[in-house]
Amino acid sequence: MKRPLIIAHRGASAYAPENTMASFLKAIDMKSDGIELDVHMTKDKALVVCHDERVDRTTNGKGFIKDFSLNEIKSLDAGSWFGSEFKGERILELEEVINLIKDSNMMLNIELKNAPILYEGIEEKVIDIISSYKMEDRVIISSFNHYSLIQVKRINPRIKTGALYMAGLVEPWVYAKSIKADALHPLFYNLLVPEFVKGCFENGIMLNPFTVDDERYIAAIINLKVNGIITNYPDRAIKIRDNLGGV
Ligand code: G3P
Ligand code: MG
Repeated sequence: MKRPLIIAHRGASAYAPENTMASFLKAIDMKSDGIELDVHMTKDKALVVCHDERVDRTTNGKGFIKDFSLNEIKSLDAGSWFGSEFKGERILELEEVINLIKDSNMMLNIELKNAPILYEGIEEKVIDIISSYKMEDRVIISSFNHYSLIQVKRINPRIKTGALYMAGLVEPWVYAKSIKADALHPLFYNLLVPEFVKGCFENGIMLNPFTVDDERYIAAIINLKVNGIITNYPDRAIKIRDNLGGV
């Protein structure tokens, strides 16, 4: 695969409602190398793909995901808010997305949304699904809750983890190693400080910055030869990478 990998953020979410089948199919159509998605847990412990803790912004329902059963959440319309042509899109289970890509060579970045609401046992449940599909080598689990990432490594050290963060930390690779993370997933501004990328690579820490949509920043970050770029516009990023002669 070319580098950096182009990872479709919540699917190709600039073009279709985020985290739905429509956005994941678009990401595949656009030949993204990977997909990023966000996972929460329903009250009957199903793993579902949605960004917010609540369903209000992206569906016709109201309330916290933790208070819905899988059946109830599946009855919501997760497409109309984005455009009437997407009416009938549903909130997906994580397993549906794994099924969608299992026979491809796409990678999957599963973001555990495990704060402010703490879903007890979410790490174990996600890892069980990954293992049952033998996808350990194609998945990276990320989270802003780094205790969850430590827990992932305790359960299965083979599964890669990426620490999400926003601040302009100094020598974050030292921290990444301290929590046994394989990668940092920083807000992309942090990469524009030259010593940052060098320090990560010298210390064996991968870099998958988010969310890079502006063409100038996409080009600048591709030139830094990071591992992956998380973007809402995978088509745009692929085009720029290919024009730059991505390695
Ligand atoms: O994983 C990158 C990015 O998705 C993190 O932020 O809020 O879009 O999930 P958010
Ligand atoms: Mg996310």
